[in-house]
Amino acid sequence: MAAVTPAKVTEVKHWNDRLFSFKTERAPEFRFENGHFTMVGLEVEGKPALRAYSIASANYEEELEFLSIKVADGLLTSRLQHINVGDEVLLGKKPVGSLVLTDLHPGRHLYLFSTGTGLAPFMSIIRDPDAYARYEKIVLVHGVRHISDLAYHDYLTNELPEHEYLGEEVREKLLYYPTVTREPFKNNGRITELLESGKLEADLGLPTIDPTQDRAMICGSIAMLDDISALLNRRNFTVSPNQGTAGDYVIERAFVG
Ligand code: A2P
Repeated sequence: MAAVTPAKVTEVKHWNDRLFSFKTERAPEFRFENGHFTMVGLEVEGKPALRAYSIASANYEEELEFLSIKVADGLLTSRLQHINVGDEVLLGKKPVGSLVLTDLHPGRHLYLFSTGTGLAPFMSIIRDPDAYARYEKIVLVHGVRHISDLAYHDYLTNELPEHEYLGEEVREKLLYYPTVTREPFKNNGRITELLESGKLEADLGLPTIDPTQDRAMICGSIAMLDDISALLNRRNFTVSPNQGTAGDYVIERAFVG
């Protein structure tokens, strides 16, 4: 049985010249946990060119959504960025991954630390009613270079708080903290700097992040994963050692590099 299956593209959105997202049809048998990733690709010169992509939609939604960078000379994304509604992409049949709520200890506040397209799995998590049932506050931190890299900013600020079913929980519990490093914005600086200085929690009116009560998920580049993990380790947080064993935080290494 082939490991991939074709799926029709239903929507494409270009955020800027470096970033786009797209939706595809979802087969009824395609099941996943919020936070999972799957392989996505195209056939290039008769062979599948595939890359791991986090699923940005929640697992109860009818379509699947993905967020991608555009790399001009990248084997896959140089082509994928030109897809149109009605085209077919290839989707892996087995979504997996370590950014799952069930691998975190219970706690008070859940911090979701992302940079760039690392936001994608958290778009799924913040639409999971279970996340709101488990934690008092969910802090979504998205670090990017430029303001135009803040994908979903308008959705997160204006639309999700008015969501028919989740809106009330979102208004009460979700704190969205976008931060930009290479031009002036209301929040500036790398996530690591904002944590070191305590500015992140201070800006949000929250107590200092605390391993006895707070939990985290991290998704970004290798350097970002390493730096935030090191910072959390210094503060006595323990990483989930493997899937199925809970920790104070989880990281995803699948699609970096
Ligand atoms: P900076 O502009 O200072 O490099 P990238 O596109 O390179 O993945 O970066 C996305 C965002 O992540 C940028 O704001 C970048 O900041 C930031 N960043 C890059 N490396 C790290 C790191 N090791 N720790 C925290 N943030 C990082």
